[in-house]
Amino acid sequence: MTISNKLRSLFKSVESICVLTGAGISAESGVATFRGTDGLWAKLKPEELASFDAFLKNPDIVWEWYNHRRQIIQEVKPNPAHFALTKLETLVKDFTLATQNIDNLHFRAGSKNVLELHGNIERSYCVDCGRIVADVIVTPEKKIPHCSHCGGIIRPDVVWFGEMLPDGVFEKATNAAQRCELFFTIGTSAVVYPAAGLPLTAREHGAYIVEINMERTEISNIVNETFLGKAGEILPELISIMEQERRQAV
Ligand code: OAD
Repeated sequence: MTISNKLRSLFKSVESICVLTGAGISAESGVATFRGTDGLWAKLKPEELASFDAFLKNPDIVWEWYNHRRQIIQEVKPNPAHFALTKLETLVKDFTLATQNIDNLHFRAGSKNVLELHGNIERSYCVDCGRIVADVIVTPEKKIPHCSHCGGIIRPDVVWFGEMLPDGVFEKATNAAQRCELFFTIGTSAVVYPAAGLPLTAREHGAYIVEINMERTEISNIVNETFLGKAGEILPELISIMEQERRQAV
């Protein structure tokens, strides 16, 4: 793998890293991405399933769809890209992983400082009283569950179209983007804001931006270095180069 001298020298000394991940990092685990010809949104209209209005109109159908996705996610495993980020977290003092994914695979791989910008499909909460229901199991029946406390309907703890990001989470991600020296944007088409603004914020604050994606994206022109290919192949290689550089620097 060819990497720039600038990145090689950053690898030796960097102590503050921020990472943004998108659906592409889980593609090799078998979770479908959103855009592109095989993407979820090519088959389904987001506003019919991923909005609060859709949920209120058809709670059972939306619940069944999320049950289906939960089931897929329970069956898949983190891939080498998720594990490479877990390793990366141990190499530097300040590490933040902001993810747009709701699949819990970063936590399952062992990452610790993860900011879930769009929520987590394995968590739900009551629309009426707000109680978190941590372990909504995939139930065979297709009816939406009700809160055992107040009887309200339970929704997945994910961000739907037209909704705000969870309180304080984006602020933490912005702070991390502002203070990092090195920023990775991995497996995201970088078209959904505010998440897609994080690499730009990092760049404005002087970070070096590295993109890993199968193809060029909306932000390829503003990043410093793009690696085209599978995250599950490129990331482990990059992290191993970084480890070598740091061993030599000691
Ligand atoms: P997208 O589906 O928009 O983009 C996935 C990106 O991953 C594309 O740029 C692919 O080229 C790239 N990709 C695919 N396989 C890859 C691989 N093996 N290695 C590296 N890159 C790969 O997904 P996101 O950018 O995550 O929001 O989408 C952002 C948001 O749009 C989602 O969080 C979701 C959706 O609407 C909400 O639901 C709120």
